Order: sequence, then structure tokens, then C-alpha cells
Amino acid sequence: MTLSLVPALASELPYLAQLSSQSLDSTLGSDALQSYLIQQALFSLHAEGQPIGLLVQQVVLDEAELIQILIDPLFCGRGFAASALTYWHRGLALQGVSRVVLEVRQTNMPALALYQRAGYQSVGMRKNYYHYADSLVDAWVMALNLPAGPQGA
Ligand SMILES: CC(C)(COP(=O)(O)OP(=O)(O)OC[C@H]1O[C@@H](n2cnc3c(N)ncnc32)[C@H](O)[C@@H]1OP(=O)(O)O)[C@@H](O)C(=O)NCCC(=O)NCCS
Repeated sequence: MTLSLVPALASELPYLAQLSSQSLDSTLGSDALQSYLIQQALFSLHAEGQPIGLLVQQVVLDEAELIQILIDPLFCGRGFAASALTYWHRGLALQGVSRVVLEVRQTNMPALALYQRAGYQSVGMRKNYYHYADSLVDAWVMALNLPAGPQGA
């Protein structure tokens, strides 16, 4: 299957916003997604040319933050998020980013598995960071150092 991670198009916003609204792990509404799109911080993951997920980044100098990664539930569990992270890390390394950080709900097992497999390590904890299903849940702060140069992560 052909996968690509590309800057999102305005025409994809309705689908990406719908995807986001269906996930308890995303607070990004269509206004926020549009704002990230304008900043060229919103990416769409395509499988066989069709969008199946999104990735939102924030890059400041040599550090990037993964704001969100989200895969359509119909396509989960097939390695697409892992591939998207690999492409993303390579692109970041090529543009001189050396470190990636993110926050993840401590009970989000798929996301924790994804990040640990990609090499992220916990570097901190944020107490009661997420409102999830009517309760407060702690977050891990995780970080990954990227190899310098074209070989990327
Ligand atoms: C987290 C998410 C992006 C993973 O996407 P995905 O395409 O299903 O992930 P992959 O298929 O690449 O699998 C990545 C890892 O997660 C594991 N995984 C996938 N679904 C899982 C589940 N339901 N329970 C436990 N682990 C799971 C896989 O086994 C794999 O780990 P492994 O390599 O050690 O086997 C997806 O579940 C999602 O969109 N969740 C909602 C949004 C979200 O939580 N985003 C992260 C915010 S911090």
C-alpha cells in the first residue's frame, strides 16, 4: 500500500475535522485545524491517495512538538501511525530538528505503544492534565532525539 504524509489541503478539512470530532483524544475543532493548515502545520496521511489520518506539528528552531496524530478508526492497527511517524521524523531531521516532544494520556495504550516503539522516552509527568471521560488523567511528557542529517529517524 502506498502511504504518504503531505501538507493537508483545504478540501480535506471537513473530513479531518470529522475525524477529530469523533476522537476523545482530540480537542482540535475545525477552526483550530484551519489555523494549523494556514501555518502549514497540518498534515494528512494518505493511503492509496485517500486521506486516512492527520498529524499536527509545531516546530520552533531545532525542536518539534507533536500536537496530534490521529488515524481513522477504520484504518487503525495496521501500522499506519508508525509509518507516519517514521516519515515525519525523517522530514524533521532533514530540516535540522534534533528533538521531538509530545504529551500523551497515561491510559492511552495504543498511543503509548506507538511512541515507545518509535523510541520516545518519558521525560516528565503532568498531573491531572487531561479531562477524559469525565475524569482527570495524568499525562506523560515524552521526548525523542533525532539523528542529525539526511539519515533521519
Ligand atoms: C494512537 C493511534 C494514532 C495509533 O494509530 P495506529 O495506526 O492504529 O497505530 P499502529 O497500527 O501504527 O500501531 C502502533 C502501535 O500501537 C499498538 N496498538 C494499536 N492499537 C492498539 C490498541 N487498541 N491497544 C493497544 N495497542 C495498540 C500496535 O500494536 C503498535 O504497537 P507495536 O508496534 O508495539 O505492536 C490511533 O489509535 C489513534 O488515532 N488514536 C486516537 C488519537 C490519539 O490517541 N492520538 C494520540 C494522542 S497523544
